[in-house]
Amino acid sequence: MENNLVTTAYIVASALFILSLAGLSQPETAKRGNLLGILGMAIAFGATALICQGYPVQIGSIGLGVLVGVLAAARVAMTDMPEMVALLNSFVGLAAVLVGFAEYLQPSAALTGTDITVHRVEIYIGVFIGIITFTGSMIAVAKLRGWVPSRAVLLPARHLFTLGMLGAIAFLIVPFLTATGSPGIWILAAMTAIAGIFGIVIVMAIGGADMAVVISLLNSYSGLASAAAGFMLNNDLLIITGALVGSSGAILSYIMCKGMNRSFINVVLGGFGETASGSGKAAALVGSATSTTTGEVVDLLANAQSVVIVPGYGMAVAQAQHPVAEITRILRAQGKQVRFGIHPVAGRMPGHMNVLLAEANVPYDIVLEMDEINDDLPHTDVVLVVGANDTVNPSAKNDPNSPIAGMPVMEVWEADTVVVLKRGMSSGYAGVENPLFFNDNTLMLFGDAKTNVNGILAQLSTSTAPAPALSAA
Ligand code: TAP
Repeated sequence: MENNLVTTAYIVASALFILSLAGLSQPETAKRGNLLGILGMAIAFGATALICQGYPVQIGSIGLGVLVGVLAAARVAMTDMPEMVALLNSFVGLAAVLVGFAEYLQPSAALTGTDITVHRVEIYIGVFIGIITFTGSMIAVAKLRGWVPSRAVLLPARHLFTLGMLGAIAFLIVPFLTATGSPGIWILAAMTAIAGIFGIVIVMAIGGADMAVVISLLNSYSGLASAAAGFMLNNDLLIITGALVGSSGAILSYIMCKGMNRSFINVVLGGFGETASGSGKAAALVGSATSTTTGEVVDLLANAQSVVIVPGYGMAVAQAQHPVAEITRILRAQGKQVRFGIHPVAGRMPGHMNVLLAEANVPYDIVLEMDEINDDLPHTDVVLVVGANDTVNPSAKNDPNSPIAGMPVMEVWEADTVVVLKRGMSSGYAGVENPLFFNDNTLMLFGDAKTNVNGILAQLSTSTAPAPALSAA
């Protein structure tokens, strides 16, 4: 009876997770998708609690986890979300490692014959994926926080080193499968140490501009680690959930790689086989930047017919999305064409800009992907770059020696006039200088993006009658 109930609950939870993923694929249905996911997880918790013993321990650990999770999620700033995701990925990896060790020391089922070998393989693979996810995610957190350099850190003879580590890991499984008792645990510990270093080395080798893909890839690994834990514990729901996270993360990573013109295999292997692209000396920047004022920008907007707004990480830091949406509302009410151009890795997490714009009620139909809008930029009067930098850097296209060479970017320099809103001349996440700021048709509006956008808004508002609410065109 109890088993039937648990099986039914697992099927319902799995269906809810699939519906949740479907909902999360569109901004319009994302909230519903999130709620379905929460419901599925609550059902999964309840059903799993039913088949486990030791209620006080369970209630204590789940209660503590819920408390820490809710507090952390409520406090985290939107701009720190990628670190939070990377940290959560690392917990999944660590959990898989701990489950693997616990299963080796005290298997949850009485096994005989070949089942023991199969179980050992599950443990070995689960711990391997789990530790790579853990150490790789910790390095990702350190890179995103700026505790270690965001640029690619390449060890001398790293290919040899990487192959050596993979060889040792592949070799150690043989004695592990035949060992009994404590030698087995030492072999598992040795593999864990080597794979942990492997995780560090591959993520350190990935440059700042590719970190977006790495976070999504580590998310996929965390799914595989959960699935491996599911095999070890013989828990179908963990296997299904892990497979869903693993496959969706891998698909997202692949799409992002395609969007950034990066080789998926290279990123998976930590930049393994990276070519000469970006390895030379980037071209020196010449010229000087021209600064402007909010008044001048208001005049430019008044004379423009078509405007494209390109947001980036700085808009998220400044939380400028609401006044940006207000400006959009006013300009559209004046009959101007205003659209947003979104780079696939603008900000610090997939869909970062789309979430901010949705929060500010910008209609989805004027928010276009980079590929949809790049061809229109040469026919655009004014482009407002709000806190974006790497994603609008022409050297990605023009300088084969740039570290971001080959990455598709928003070709904003093709417009008649480009206004860049940022606080100073500092580089973006990838640490690369941006020649856009020195172009003849670029004006720099220095200062906090929100302060400046509010300044533009105030002047636009006084020169116009109140605009109607934004609605889909
Ligand atoms: P970035 O290249 O990171 O540049 C953001 C710019 O915003 C900075 O140059 C900064 O210049 C400016 N800024 C910061 N605070 C500001 C404020 N309060 N007001 C105005 N400007 C401000 O941004 P991007 O173009 O969005 O590119 C994203 C980068 O992050 C890419 O390299 C991408 O690969 C990487 N990345 C993305 C992700 C995902 S999944 N999207 C994850 C990890 C890494 P000042 O300091 O001069 O103001």
